[in-house]
Amino acid sequence: MLVLVSGAGTNLQALLDASRDPEYGVEVVAVGADRDDIEGLARAERAGLPTFVHRVKDFASREAWDAELTASCAKHQPDLIVLAGFMKLTGQAFLGEFGGRTVNTHPALSPAFPGMDGPAAALAYGVKVTGATLFVVDAGVDSGPVVDQTAVRVEEGDDVESLHERIKVAERAMLVRCVGRMAREGFSITDRKVRFGQ
Ligand code: GRF
Repeated sequence: MLVLVSGAGTNLQALLDASRDPEYGVEVVAVGADRDDIEGLARAERAGLPTFVHRVKDFASREAWDAELTASCAKHQPDLIVLAGFMKLTGQAFLGEFGGRTVNTHPALSPAFPGMDGPAAALAYGVKVTGATLFVVDAGVDSGPVVDQTAVRVEEGDDVESLHERIKVAERAMLVRCVGRMAREGFSITDRKVRFGQ
């Protein structure tokens, strides 16, 4: 499994911690990022993992960035790619190579509140329940087939930060549980329905 990050990397850390147990059945082979100087990369380096960084602004086009990201991922021959707080949309080259075996987490209950600010949008709308969605990445924004969802209540007095932090606790547990099952049992997608097992 290869993990792509853009920030704090607490989801990555949860996967690294889980993968220390051989029974979990998942090995993180490398970590990539779209920016430098992030705690997500530091966590990977502390774990002794190879890392790579490709910044969109260093490339002539988005397509060139996507092609290089794809090539760097392919070098490590991952079975599965996890976008763990990776704040870029992958493009055609990436989906051509890794479509159907890349998952992402979104801090809202899809199809509600897609995009960058799920917790803020849920709070502004006034919903009483939100959560996180693990999905198989497709060409849209947080629109792929749903692997699993976890619900989190909005509490009186929540701000975006407190709500997102509570969502992240539930999100990490879901990610670790589902990625382990996907790796150990395999999975299939039929008419958007994701099922574990062969
Ligand atoms: C997660 O809530 C993810 O869903 C969102 O950003 C957060 C990343 O957290 N896109 P971390 O970098 O794994 O700590």
